Amino acid sequence: CEIGPFRNDPAIDFTIEEAREAFPEAISRLRADMGRTLPLYIGGTEITTDDRIPSTNPANISEVVGEVCQAGVAEIDQAIAAAVQAQKEWGRRPAKERAEIILRAAEIAKERIFDLCAVQVLEVGKQWDQAHADVGEAIDFMEYYARDMLRLDQPRRMGRAPGEINHYMYQPKGVAAVIGPWNFPLAISAGMCSAAIVTGNAVLYKPSSLSSVVGYGLVDIFRDAGVPDGIFNYVPGRSSVMGDHLVTRPEVGVIAFTGSMEVGTHIIETAAKLQPGQDHVKRVIAEMGGKNAIIIDDDAELDEAVVHTLYAAFGFQGQKCSACSRVIVVDSIYDRFVERLVEGARSLKIGPAENPHYNMGPVVDKSQQKKIKEYVEIARKEGAILLEHAAAPELDTDNACFVPMTIVGGITPEHRIAQEEIFGPVLAVMRARDFDQAIEWANSTRYALTGGVFSRSPRHLEQARREFNVGNLYLNRNNVGALVERQAFGGFKLSGIGSKTGGPDYLIQYMDPKVVTENT
Ligand code: NAD
Ligand code: ALA
Repeated sequence: CEIGPFRNDPAIDFTIEEAREAFPEAISRLRADMGRTLPLYIGGTEITTDDRIPSTNPANISEVVGEVCQAGVAEIDQAIAAAVQAQKEWGRRPAKERAEIILRAAEIAKERIFDLCAVQVLEVGKQWDQAHADVGEAIDFMEYYARDMLRLDQPRRMGRAPGEINHYMYQPKGVAAVIGPWNFPLAISAGMCSAAIVTGNAVLYKPSSLSSVVGYGLVDIFRDAGVPDGIFNYVPGRSSVMGDHLVTRPEVGVIAFTGSMEVGTHIIETAAKLQPGQDHVKRVIAEMGGKNAIIIDDDAELDEAVVHTLYAAFGFQGQKCSACSRVIVVDSIYDRFVERLVEGARSLKIGPAENPHYNMGPVVDKSQQKKIKEYVEIARKEGAILLEHAAAPELDTDNACFVPMTIVGGITPEHRIAQEEIFGPVLAVMRARDFDQAIEWANSTRYALTGGVFSRSPRHLEQARREFNVGNLYLNRNNVGALVERQAFGGFKLSGIGSKTGGPDYLIQYMDPKVVTENT
């Protein structure tokens, strides 16, 4: 049937009663089936292993969301063999057939949207709206990449020289290793996996151990959509056991990674070394961290700037690569802005994500909690704590991973709080002399992912367009929540290799271009 133009999945409207009721219902359905063992999925077969990791609810770590079987080296080898075999046929299928299967996968995700959201609420502590946006983005990636593959599949005739015909085309790279993060647990994994599959590759998918139950949702979606056995293999595992093995297997042609700068650069280095039996150069697609800033100019609309900064800094507990972790305020407006920012933050409530009464939830696990608390102590030494706002007193905080929402003033670029990605609700406030210094400070980290500017000055907005060095720049709005196609997403410097997810340059990374010349 006819495939219409791409449209983003709509945001949820909680003024509608059914939307409000759907969440507790889906969470109850999930709780009735919680803690089950999730097998690996290799070559179309479910495989259980003795090594398992319990994935728990960060708002109550006694609650096990699922026991996830772990792939070791032997299971990775088994999945590689299944992938290599299945890809031979899949890579030759017409692109339209592959695209239709991915579109079917998007439809299935739409049908299951509330159940998919419920897993995120309990496994990683996403608020209802944030979970819905994540599943919506997963749907968007599948819808967008299916259509984009049809565009790339159009024969492209190159040149008009008489006596010859030149055609430019693409072929799949073969086997893709997809390694995902926990913070956008369905969207980013669905994006990387569907891009690899629709371009004709077979996938070994390794989710983060903190979100492997969410990741398992893709097994059901792709299987039910008709992705052939061996094309999508679900292989969660301990990275210390199987990470390097997966990356170095000679059959793996492309590695799609999203995660931290430390792991991403390790994978780039490891994948660069030629292995025995390897007959190609591996391509690594790496989307990494950020240390993103919002600039508040002296004429900024403060009502907007305060609300958007709070959302960008503390939405999903600041655990977004795009989150605002530095707000750089021009001196003459500093006192007015900061007073309102701190009062606004104080009004927010911290508690379990499944209860919409709370604005901010737990961070993802005990180890993140410890790391963030250590950064709060560093902030205390480097600057002046303006707000340290803890979880609601009625909650059992020992068994949960809450951290205080923290705002620290007196920070300048040489401080660690201004340079290191904390990945939690810790916001540094920096007082800049003027707009020029604000731009200079915004650019003073190794990262270049997102940024925001609140200003009414056309000259300053133009200066920001030219000089604010980030992959995604937002003027007079917050710097999170990029939408597929409209805000194709990704950074450069140590934030990533620069190609944009959900944009027109993305899919070609999973393929090799080829030109065929015929003498006529
Ligand atoms: P992480 O780097 O700790 O882990 C990412 C994935 O890599 C996980 O699946 C992990 O198990 C795996 N991994 C770890 N070591 C490995 C190894 N040696 N070999 C193979 N795989 C290995 O990141 P995280 O904590 O899951 O996610 C948070 C990070 O991701 C933050 O830095 C955040 O900024 C970044 N992120 C970036 C984007 C983006 O689009 N730029 C999007 C989301 C998250
Ligand atoms: N794409 C996500 C955002 O923009 C990371 O927030």
